[in-house]
Amino acid sequence: MYLFKQKDDLERHLSTARKEGKRIGFVPTMGALHRGHLSLILAAKEHSDLVVCSIFVNPTQFNDPADFEKYPITIDQDILQLTSAGTDVLFLPSVQEMYPKGLAPEMHYDFGQLETVLEGAHRPGHFQGVGQVVHKLLNLVQPDKLFMGQKDFQQCLIINRLIKLLHLNVELVICPTLREQDGLAMSSRNLRLNATERQNALHISRALYYIKDHLTQAPLKTIADKAINELKGNGFDVDYLDMVSIAPDGNIDFPNTPGKDPLYAVVAAREISSNVRLIDNMQVN
Ligand code: PAF
Repeated sequence: MYLFKQKDDLERHLSTARKEGKRIGFVPTMGALHRGHLSLILAAKEHSDLVVCSIFVNPTQFNDPADFEKYPITIDQDILQLTSAGTDVLFLPSVQEMYPKGLAPEMHYDFGQLETVLEGAHRPGHFQGVGQVVHKLLNLVQPDKLFMGQKDFQQCLIINRLIKLLHLNVELVICPTLREQDGLAMSSRNLRLNATERQNALHISRALYYIKDHLTQAPLKTIADKAINELKGNGFDVDYLDMVSIAPDGNIDFPNTPGKDPLYAVVAAREISSNVRLIDNMQVN
């Protein structure tokens, strides 16, 4: 695996590969890799000739400075895992390399409604930061395909919109969420939970399975409220737990009853004893 820390070196390497006709698959990450990330690498390997992964803990997408400070960093293990998964190139830039002009936004992305609901409403500025860094990374890597995880439901919609806004020639491939055997969605933030907190975190996926099992024609709000109360009673601050579908224009709809469109239960909640905020989602119909 080649490891590049400088944009120029990465661009030179990829331009040669492109001239050789290689199709590039790209997996952007913030490191602290788990099997969920590795499944993205494997999907990228299956659909491309050359797989690029980036590890960059992007400061501009953390609306909470404490979350940024505590973001887990496991770079040596990440490199070992990426090598054994057969990654061709790792891009590991510094903050200065990615933001030579400083962290102030260079442009504003018009994500419309997508930025005003769910994560957008609870993490002001988060999606602008994600847009900023993914835009920079896509310009550098110029992949044919971009691989992202369904676990970040709204982020996938945002990136889809970014690609359309900027008329980028890249296909977004969304890969399924990977879960631990007990149902916990794999997440780098799980590393911040001790054994008791991790056990408690299971209430999040349980809430989603509960909704899936109890989906009836009853107003969705009734089922969601039960799941919210269950989480609140088990040591969580719930930012949101909603039932949503994806509108034809890529916005997020909040239907009152199940229809024929795929319906997703989406949740963000803070496990109070650890103060770790976790997100998850599940198609429930
Ligand atoms: O999902 C993530 O890990 C990050 O939001 C991403 C897409 C790598 C941008 O920093």
